[in-house]
Amino acid sequence: MAITKVKSLKGEITVPGDKSISHRGVMFGAISEGTTELTGFLDGADCRSTIDCFKAMGIDISQEADHVIIHGKGLHGLSAPKEMLDVGNSGTTTRLISGILAGQSFISSLNGDASIQKRPMGRIITPLTQMGAHIRSIKDNGCAPLEIGGAPLKAIHYDSPVASAQVKSCVLLAGLYADGVTSVTEPVVSRNHTELMLSGFGADIKSEGLTASIVGGPKLVGQKIAVPGDISSAAYFIVAGLICPNSDLLIKNVNTNPTRAGIIKIAQDMGGNIELLNERIVSGEPVADIHVTTSDLHGCEVSGEIIPALIDEIPVIAVMAACASGTTVIKDAAELKVKESDRIATVTENLKAMGCDITPTEDGMIINGGKPLHGTTVNTHLDHRIAMSFAIAALIAEGETTFDNEECCSISYPTFFETLNQIINK
Ligand code: S3P
Repeated sequence: MAITKVKSLKGEITVPGDKSISHRGVMFGAISEGTTELTGFLDGADCRSTIDCFKAMGIDISQEADHVIIHGKGLHGLSAPKEMLDVGNSGTTTRLISGILAGQSFISSLNGDASIQKRPMGRIITPLTQMGAHIRSIKDNGCAPLEIGGAPLKAIHYDSPVASAQVKSCVLLAGLYADGVTSVTEPVVSRNHTELMLSGFGADIKSEGLTASIVGGPKLVGQKIAVPGDISSAAYFIVAGLICPNSDLLIKNVNTNPTRAGIIKIAQDMGGNIELLNERIVSGEPVADIHVTTSDLHGCEVSGEIIPALIDEIPVIAVMAACASGTTVIKDAAELKVKESDRIATVTENLKAMGCDITPTEDGMIINGGKPLHGTTVNTHLDHRIAMSFAIAALIAEGETTFDNEECCSISYPTFFETLNQIINK
């Protein structure tokens, strides 16, 4: 795939289902009684890893494209997997499933690809160990492969040092298997899909300020869930519509949960023409259509409490900043270093290669925008969000942009290039 500068982007699109919600739908369905039906499911590699892990533990799951039916077996219905569970590239699968596995009477183990084997698991090993779980990093390096399970759990209160929905969800899911109330306090609120969705399945789960708590031993009952479009996938087209000339895009049916929608506020702060239409609630989550048109953007500061609400969008926000006049400072985002790639390094490397003035910092980056970008060969480091973010930068760059790998997009957005091609006017 070679991408060159476009004349304009026009059209109405939808993006695939929300990755976080799709994972949770499968997991919570598997440990509930009765049938759970997901429509709009994200048929990407990460969510397939979650399906495969639960199939390996005896759960009957059928999938036809974005329609998934899970025949749940209740909190104690999983059976011991015969082999090591394969979580692929998925951090969400790894950390959330670990909370469930910690509560099982059998011992299991899991592993994933080279990226997963570098991502920090100490952040879940610590609280799960406090709950009395048996969990260990098999290579003793704080990363996967992990061995988990086989011990009774006790309820704890955990003060998490990181604002991470994966850590919070892991502890809350383990809390399903403990007597009493398990709670987690975070330094800044992270995405709350677990709290919203588990409550719909019948759990006694609450959030107050920075603390989420759950009562152990509920009866969970299967649900029908319409998964909305993923704002992290919509983000590429939001930025594309703002930075490309003569553009007008409507992105329909996108999850705008405030714990996720930080990119909308930042696009507005940068002077972007962005509006939410047809705002509604679907399966307990806020949803809207997002309209963007070409905008004169200026730099801004991206820091503090908003960071967890846009952490996955920072690569494409950096592209937006490169196209904005003036300076954008992104800080308080050291978590970028432990995503699918070290995104401070991989964003810097590729934006520099396109001619942008960018300086990496310990917890973010400083971008002096407005310099013309030129094509390059993007070094994706097999990180889906790097590939897609730089496909958007390529739309305004002089010359041709190619990729060392395009297939990595299928982790979260298998049809990304098809949708992009639909809206491009050369
Ligand atoms: C996710 C939480 C975020 C996010 C990831 C999905 C989730 O990770 O980066 O893509 O579904 O809970 P952290 O919570 O670890 O920051």
